[in-house]
Amino acid sequence: MRSIVVLTVAVCACSEARPLQGELANPVSWKEEIAPLFTANCNSCHSGAAPAGGYRTTSYAEVLGPYDTPVAVAGDATSKLLRTIDPAQADAVHKPVSEAAYSQTHAWVVDGQLSYFRSATHEGGILNPHDGEFHSNLVRAAGWNFSECQHCHGDDLAGGKVAVSCQGCHVLQVPAGGVPTCASCHGSPQSPAPPRDLTGNTNASARGVGAHQAHLVGKTLIASPVACGTCHVVPAKVDSPGHLDHPRPATVTFSNLALGDGAKPSWNGATCSNVYCHGGGTKLASDPAALLRAPAWTAGTSQAFCGSCHGAPPGDSVHANVTYPNCSGCHPRTVTPQGGIVISGTGDTRTSAHINGQIDVGP
Ligand code: HEC
Ligand code: HEC
Ligand code: HEC
Ligand code: HEC
Ligand code: HEC
Ligand code: HEC
Ligand code: HEC
Repeated sequence: MRSIVVLTVAVCACSEARPLQGELANPVSWKEEIAPLFTANCNSCHSGAAPAGGYRTTSYAEVLGPYDTPVAVAGDATSKLLRTIDPAQADAVHKPVSEAAYSQTHAWVVDGQLSYFRSATHEGGILNPHDGEFHSNLVRAAGWNFSECQHCHGDDLAGGKVAVSCQGCHVLQVPAGGVPTCASCHGSPQSPAPPRDLTGNTNASARGVGAHQAHLVGKTLIASPVACGTCHVVPAKVDSPGHLDHPRPATVTFSNLALGDGAKPSWNGATCSNVYCHGGGTKLASDPAALLRAPAWTAGTSQAFCGSCHGAPPGDSVHANVTYPNCSGCHPRTVTPQGGIVISGTGDTRTSAHINGQIDVGP
């Protein structure tokens, strides 16, 4: 009796919720059928650096489209992908390929639920971020413990006994035993802050890396280190609210110094504007002499020069007869006689009267 129950459960686990790959009599998956179909009919236009319609058909993720505006939705016969190549409504460009591609693509999207592959181990939704079986949900269900994945994909998650690596899309560094550290998915042994970012980038030109180190290490030596919390919430634990409970990208939520003097900062994915530190807020924002108050996150430290966030000097009556570098007469705690910024201490414990939330005048 006991063994029958176990057997039933085992069978249900892989066939109950929905078929692994569509109609079992006519299974359709990306790897087996759709990738070759699209290679033959679509990639001539939908590949390379400037694909037709800004749409590439060369990888599963790109065919699904952006997370917020998917081109293909599992089970949805009105998905843009299907409308575009439906012989009944295709435009002149797609008419020639529609007969060859439509019915199988329809079977894939609707019956096949956008199955990625036919696997005895995983459900077809393993790589579809909208699918309950998306693989990060499996790790979540295990309490963010990777040991089960490591069992097959290797302790280093680079392939293991099944020779399928995670590291083409990630740079995961999870200790054997499966319990991640704060640097298992991003950051370095020194800090959870990028580099590396979530896809392994280490260059500041990548959005996930950007100006992190400039703020944390203070490459330009114009202020104390900027705390992570100034720009986004820091999770106490891997499963803290706000962390890992939404799709990428990370959420930028300004606080403390960034909101100084009534500033209302914003982040548009590329540029920060109205941040107190960069000349936002009632007083500094009214300075007509400031040259660069909306720095681009990936454009480097050359954007933080004297005169960028506020004029050097500001363009008001107090400074009418002042010229740079003669600031220290009135701002001795902030500026050296040579026009550099006064920094006390070193490393993470250094402090400065500059960009500390108050205007420092006098001794
Ligand atoms: C001869 C070139 C060509 C071929 C072949 C082609 N397309 Fe297109 N496709 C285009 C162009 C051009 C556009 C943008 C304008 C339009 O919709 O006609 C486009 C747009 C699309 C879009 C809309 C993308 C978006 O996000 O707005 C989808 C989806 C699409 N194609 C799917 C396919 C599929 C699937 C195939 C193969 C079965 C295919 N196309 C074959 C040229 C092509
Ligand atoms: C019993 C062995 C086994 C376990 C356990 C396992 N996998 Fe897999 N995984 C595979 C195999 C094998 C493949 C390749 C497809 C196939 O042949 O079934 C694969 C493929 C994948 C893929 C698709 C990768 C690609 O590029 O094709 C992802 C993602 C994945 N696994 C994630 C995970 C995660 C996350 C875990 C842990 C929760 C996990 N797997 C646990 C065996 C396993
Ligand atoms: C084909 C690319 C691909 C492969 C292969 C892949 N992943 Fe992922 N994985 C992604 C993407 C994309 C996301 C993020 C989706 C989102 O948040 O929008 C993700 C998210 C995750 C997350 C959630 C945290 C994060 O970094 O976003 C974990 C954990 C994870 N993957 C583990 C694994 C493991 C373990 C394997 C190998 C067994 C694996 N992945 C293989 C593409 C992949
Ligand atoms: C000056 C503001 C600022 C500070 C300080 C800062 N971050 Fe970030 N962080 C950002 C921005 C901007 C992004 C990119 C968000 C996006 O992609 O929309 C980001 C993204 C991230 C990401 C996601 C990377 C990826 O690949 O998408 C992680 C992880 C991260 N930060 C961790 C940290 C940690 C840990 C600290 C402190 C040690 C820190 N950050 C300090 C602004 C900051
Ligand atoms: C399993 C992979 C993983 C681990 C382990 C991990 N992070 Fe993250 N972290 C992410 C992902 C994915 C994001 C971006 C999207 C999000 O917030 O979920 C992120 C974003 C962040 C951010 C940017 C703010 C935010 O929440 O979006 C900070 C700060 C951060 N992580 C700190 C930490 C700290 C501290 C730890 C250890 C307690 C940690 N991370 C462990 C995957 C991970
Ligand atoms: C003659 C004295 C004097 C000199 C020299 C001087 N400042 Fe000031 N500065 C002030 C005073 C007084 C304030 C406070 C004004 C207020 O609170 O309205 C101030 C305020 C500021 C502020 C805050 C924003 C603002 O417009 O009030 C900045 C930024 C600033 N100074 C930069 C400089 C720089 C850069 C130099 C050197 C090029 C400099 N100052 C030289 C007297 C001086
Ligand atoms: C990243 C933006 C930024 C850059 C670059 C910058 N400042 Fe400032 N500066 C500020 C802000 C914000 C304040 C407002 C007062 C505060 O919070 O300390 C300020 C205030 C000042 C003051 C007024 C005294 C004080 O401490 O309040 C002086 C003087 C000053 N800056 C000089 C300079 C000089 C000299 C340089 C070039 C070495 C420079 N600043 C570059 C943001 C900047």
